Amino acid sequence: MRIVSGIQPTGNLHLGNYLGAIRNWVRMQDDLEPGSECLFFLADLHAISMPHSPAELRRATLEMVAALVACGIDPNRSVLFNQAQVPAHAELQWLLNGTARMGWLNRMTQFKDKSGKNREGASVALFTYPVLQAADVLLYQATHVPVGEDQKQHLELARDIAQKFNNDFCSEDAPVFTLPEAFIPPAAARIMSLRDGTKKMSKSDPSEMSRIELADDADTIMKKIKKAKTDPEPLPSEMAGLEGRPEALNLVSIYAVLTDEKPEAVLARFAGQGFGVFKPALGEVLVETLSPISQRFRELVEDREALDAILAKGALRAREIGIPTLDATYNALGLVRAR
Ligand code: TYM
Repeated sequence: MRIVSGIQPTGNLHLGNYLGAIRNWVRMQDDLEPGSECLFFLADLHAISMPHSPAELRRATLEMVAALVACGIDPNRSVLFNQAQVPAHAELQWLLNGTARMGWLNRMTQFKDKSGKNREGASVALFTYPVLQAADVLLYQATHVPVGEDQKQHLELARDIAQKFNNDFCSEDAPVFTLPEAFIPPAAARIMSLRDGTKKMSKSDPSEMSRIELADDADTIMKKIKKAKTDPEPLPSEMAGLEGRPEALNLVSIYAVLTDEKPEAVLARFAGQGFGVFKPALGEVLVETLSPISQRFRELVEDREALDAILAKGALRAREIGIPTLDATYNALGLVRAR
């Protein structure tokens, strides 16, 4: 089993990333069978597909390494690195650009969402972004890719690219690429904004009140939960009672994921209570989970040398794992290189 996943270093890690992805990464790392391996990386090459500030990106990349380690990713057990230190990602993307079809990329919803009305002004990188994402996982022969629901379409594209490449350029008994499986934790698939229960919690939302960040202190967390949008109804005793109440559903889901319970069990406990009771309880559970993480984060983020060393070590190992697949890809395409 080879587990591979990435996260963009665009600003602070939030609860959606943590519950939707990172917590799951940590669990997969901790439950790993002998002979299996986890690779987790910062998708810094993806981050330049949108307008960005170089100084911000540099800071956010280092902060994200600190945050991942604070969340429990252990650089001695998992390969932790950034794409920019492993040129094979960009190389493989170019090689796969020959296989990816315009029609496939035209169907990607993320490009439509992120480019908005300004399609002509969007970067080429934003359009070809999913090919780089395919390269990220195919380079390592990933079998499992833990992600949130929003990345499912990109993973399907990676499978399509792998399949077409294997069909077009490989003999049946010697495919170059493994078809990766998206692994989406059902409970945490989509953590929504605290201001609008129909939008996912996101780093790019201009309102900080819409998300809980992992670096938030206890007071900030309590304040954000207190101000989270809700409705005047008390909590129902059954899930059906949350229908048409996306904000209430989101808060109950967050509580359930944090305490590892089913949302039904949370409702059974809080049925008939208003948000005046539920919100402080949720805030407490959040603070309990996040405060050890943010404390460790604040210590780590000060140690630039240690962060550089983590990335250097991870990149070395990532290159080692990726090179045979990159070589096989060049070879399958008939590109002549030094022998
Ligand atoms: P990114 O950086 O937007 O998000 C990182 C991970 O967090 C998940 N996530 C969420 N899950 C639940 N609820 C939310 N509100 C929420 N917001 C984010 C995402 O699904 C993701 O798993 N393109 C990717 C990064 C990437 C990647 C890869 C992932 C690049 N290459 C290869 C996997 C494999 C992205 O922008 O994720």
